Amino acid sequence: MERTYIMLKPDAVKRHLMGEVISRIERKGFNIINMKMITLNEAVLKEHYAHLVEKPFFPEIVEYMVSGPVLAMIVEGNDVVKGMRFLMGATNWLEANPGTIRGDYANSTTENLIHGSDSVENAEIEIKRFFGNI
Ligand code: CDP
Ligand code: MG
Repeated sequence: MERTYIMLKPDAVKRHLMGEVISRIERKGFNIINMKMITLNEAVLKEHYAHLVEKPFFPEIVEYMVSGPVLAMIVEGNDVVKGMRFLMGATNWLEANPGTIRGDYANSTTENLIHGSDSVENAEIEIKRFFGNI
């Protein structure tokens, strides 16, 4: 069964939207097979967002992502990597369709509630980064 790495970002936790987002994942029929609250640091974010480290907005991403705990999850299901990206909606909040998590709750491209792996290969790398070898 395919797995993906999902992370509810600090804004989702602070806005008390964890239950809402978890419930959408469950109603879709995906299985949450592990979860934990963690607080990130700059070192892990430089790895996790390596493709963005050179961008001018990277310091803003770090400030946001270390601003409070996140909920790290492993989610399993049929085509779950693409399926979760579909549930999440577009990165740019102005392009995220209503009915998606970001489309319904984000009003910023940085503070967009949720991370989901963008490929099966990256999902396994990210699961290992945040959960070790499980
Ligand atoms: O999260 P996703 O895979 O949809 O997008 P990404 O391109 O991998 O970017 C990772 C995160 O960086 C986004 O989810 C945003 O929080 C942030 N970001 C941003 O603040 N401004 C951008 N122009 C692009 C990304
Ligand atoms: Mg990404």
